[in-house]
Amino acid sequence: MFSPTTRMNDSSYSDHQTNLRTKWGYTMQWTPQHLSQDEVENLRAQFDERGAEALQRIQAIAARLGPGEEGSKPDMFAVLRDHREEDDFLAAFWEHLHAVPGWVDWEQIERGQRFFARYFMANCSLFAFQAFVRDNTATPGVAEVVSRTGGLAVKHLLTRLIETFTWFIQITHDLQAIQPGGQGHSSTIRVRLLHSSVRQRILELEKTRPGYFNVEKYGPPVNDLDAVHAITLFSCNAMWDAMPKMGIHPTDQEAADFIALFRYIAYLIGAPNDGKYWADITKAKATFESMVWYELVPNETSKILAQNFIKWIEDQPPAYLSMGFMEAACRWMNGNEMCDALGLGRPALHHYAAFAGHNIIVASMAWAQRLFPSLDRFVVAYTRKTLHNALTQHVTGPTVPTNGTPPYSFKYVPNHGQKMEVDAQKPNLATRKQRFRPFECVFTAAFLVAALLSLGLAVGAVRILVLLNETFGVTSWIYGGKEN
Ligand code: HEM
Repeated sequence: MFSPTTRMNDSSYSDHQTNLRTKWGYTMQWTPQHLSQDEVENLRAQFDERGAEALQRIQAIAARLGPGEEGSKPDMFAVLRDHREEDDFLAAFWEHLHAVPGWVDWEQIERGQRFFARYFMANCSLFAFQAFVRDNTATPGVAEVVSRTGGLAVKHLLTRLIETFTWFIQITHDLQAIQPGGQGHSSTIRVRLLHSSVRQRILELEKTRPGYFNVEKYGPPVNDLDAVHAITLFSCNAMWDAMPKMGIHPTDQEAADFIALFRYIAYLIGAPNDGKYWADITKAKATFESMVWYELVPNETSKILAQNFIKWIEDQPPAYLSMGFMEAACRWMNGNEMCDALGLGRPALHHYAAFAGHNIIVASMAWAQRLFPSLDRFVVAYTRKTLHNALTQHVTGPTVPTNGTPPYSFKYVPNHGQKMEVDAQKPNLATRKQRFRPFECVFTAAFLVAALLSLGLAVGAVRILVLLNETFGVTSWIYGGKEN
């Protein structure tokens, strides 16, 4: 007899009658809005050609200008800004970047910007334990680019994380920051040029030694499919996957606003920004689920990247997280099937208790912020101020070129044969003296308090019932017992 359910491979099921599909433990209702295999392949074959052409023209101008003071690297963004009038294509590119598409609603984008600061701790956990560990590593095309550029190699990881975070803080700081001319706007253009440099370098190496990067299999580096996936992991994972798993359920309004912000980012960064992917939350959810369905296929490179990532984060200040805690967090957020495929360890129960405590804290804060709007305003303002001071001013100062390297420039330029290895990159744990883990202690305490409170409430409820029974004979009302 025909079975309506098909097991596609180890991790996915599809039910042909109900159109329910399950992948890596995530169940989705497949609709015509979800992407077809053909659409996915078309996206994989395309890339940001406008950005690539602009980069070549900027490079030609930079070569004419020669090296900067003390031989510093040319700042591609500054060349574009200052010399765009010398080239019609660059002038049009600049105009395109500063034009505001008709679908942009600044009030909505401003609301969307608050989402990052509002749920800051949950957002950090999402990026670390789901976006980096699962989406970045388990997507073969992205993993291949990332491993070629060494950007997730253990020794470069901290810089990379700080830069990505700095960019996030810049694009969400306030409305002015993301509007044309704002710091987040300029940084996003810088990142677009950086992606074009990554693609250009990898394709150059492929040309001189065919086989270096399999374009037929993965598509061009940083292609449109990778970019759509990256936009979903930045904006949609929070709404329908990671935050609900932490006990936070963003409202439809929050989802629509945050996704609107990222549709505009897609426009600036040269990713597909067509309404069919992002116009409303139904479409965005279908786009996100299509990425889960087609794109998460962990391989050996994924294992190396995922393991390197958590090895490096282990015991890093200020959180000093243990390996066990991070493995528990990854398993909670991504499921055992995925984490087994990534070769992550199985931690002890107390690590899950600590992550449960983390979830109790972030979910309680979210609940309190929803109940008290003034608390929400305070949290958003305080987080923005603290982060802006900590990251953009004191650590990297991204508006100011440092050591001759402009912000968001290509740091880990790949060469033939360069691909990271798992063991070669091991951080030296012996040099790490810190063993007290303040965050985990607080999380475990939150779990214990919540567990004791629940136990206390349960015992209290039973005692009240017993008391009511003794006083009024409640059980005899319910069960119709005999009266004496
Ligand atoms: C479309 C959404 C994307 C956004 C918003 C984004 C954001 C960023 C940011 C902020 C940086 C600078 C921080 C850093 O150096 O790590 C960066 C760098 C980088 N991105 Fe992306 N990214 C996106 C898509 C992608 C995709 C799809 C890939 C690969 C397939 C990719 C590969 C890289 C690489 C390799 C670098 C580091 C280059 C280097 O400095 O060595 N990005 N990205």
